Amino acid sequence: MPDAVAIVLAAGTGERLGLQAPKAFVPLGGRPILARAVSAALACPSIDLVVVTAPPGSEDLAHAIVEPLGAHAVVTGGATRHASVRAGLAVVPEEASTVVCHDAARALASPALFEEVLDALPGWDGVVPAVPVSDTVKRVRDGAVVRTEPRDELALAQTPQAFTTSALRGAHARAAAAGLEFTDDAAALEWAGYRVRVVPGEPGNFKITTVADVLRAEHLLVEAGGG
Ligand code: CTP
Ligand code: MG
Repeated sequence: MPDAVAIVLAAGTGERLGLQAPKAFVPLGGRPILARAVSAALACPSIDLVVVTAPPGSEDLAHAIVEPLGAHAVVTGGATRHASVRAGLAVVPEEASTVVCHDAARALASPALFEEVLDALPGWDGVVPAVPVSDTVKRVRDGAVVRTEPRDELALAQTPQAFTTSALRGAHARAAAAGLEFTDDAAALEWAGYRVRVVPGEPGNFKITTVADVLRAEHLLVEAGGG
């Protein structure tokens, strides 16, 4: 019986990165972003299956990249991140009690972070890793500052995020019925009234969005000697 299943979201086009290949196939230190994200998930002993959402038309390539890494399934992603999560959830085995959602674009998340969100889940519906905000944050409307937000209560959310399967399915079903889209899965649970806990994220676990992020990640990998 699967213990925890990871859904690795990799179906985006990477428009802001602006390369020809979808972002998940772009190499970092010679290894595709997708391979790095899936390896980190499967290195976590509690995760015994990874479901990858692939860009439509690139399912075979996703399969070829993930095949040597371990147990996996590839599904065709949707037009939005949320649609991709729903496509992934559709193949999560009924008996899996826990699902971890992870953005392939966070290719530098450590296996330890997967373990930490899973360890923190008992007694909660979801766990999100987050890092403190170091800049001063202004709420801005029509070019004018409305106010400065107190920074000590703000945090920047990352993935991997761990959920009980029933809460994740419930929150997504309700969000879909209401026609709502959220930028992460924890937000769907928060909206639906589930209890979401925060654990410390990793400063190096930034989302690869632009070419500058690729260069930063390559630099970190060289420094770590991880190639
Ligand atoms: N994602 C997905 N399905 C989508 C859109 C996004 O599975 N329809 C995934 C991406 O592959 C990525 C993660 O969700 O790993 C976070 O999305 P983002 O960083 O925005 O990636 P892209 O949508 O690919 O990038 P952009 O918004 O610049 O096009
Ligand atoms: Mg996107």
